[in-house]
Amino acid sequence: MKKEDIIFLPNPHLREKSRKIHVVNDTTRAAIDDMVSAAIDWEDSRPHEISAALAAVQVDKLERIVIIRTDFDNKENRDFTALINPEIVKYEGEILEDFEGCLSVKNVYGKVPRHSKIRVKALDIDGKQVRFKAEGFLARVIQHEIDHTKGIVFVDHIRDIPEAFFELDDSGELKPTDYDKVVNEGHLYDD
Ligand code: NI
Repeated sequence: MKKEDIIFLPNPHLREKSRKIHVVNDTTRAAIDDMVSAAIDWEDSRPHEISAALAAVQVDKLERIVIIRTDFDNKENRDFTALINPEIVKYEGEILEDFEGCLSVKNVYGKVPRHSKIRVKALDIDGKQVRFKAEGFLARVIQHEIDHTKGIVFVDHIRDIPEAFFELDDSGELKPTDYDKVVNEGHLYDD
């Protein structure tokens, strides 16, 4: 898949719940490969950003599959880990605000509150159950991706907070943005 296969707001599918995967098989694994190629193709088109993760709904496949980059700090390492039917079984730590972007929200960043630590349950690509703890940026990314499987986009967490909206300037720095303009032009909300 290519970056053109990625859907973005206001596509209403991004606000729908994804279906649970009942059997992990070659079709599931092919879908994961498609998601990885779309994420990498998107990244190749962006000078200042990486594809940290992607949910299947973002390539218009309403299934509970997400891919998460294994190394956020090394742009050369393009390995992704797939989580199937991921769930947060426990929220821990504190609520912290930090920046998030999304391949399905064009040119908008937000300062989003998230839990600093979580416990996660999912299936791996062999259909085996995995349980693990995550914290920091990884915990944030997993919360963002699991939101996608529930039809929630990061802008939904900050919709009435204009000062939480940012954009990247040409040098790759985040700067406050014109809230009314991004909400209206980006058609970020349904109503
Ligand atoms: Ni996203």
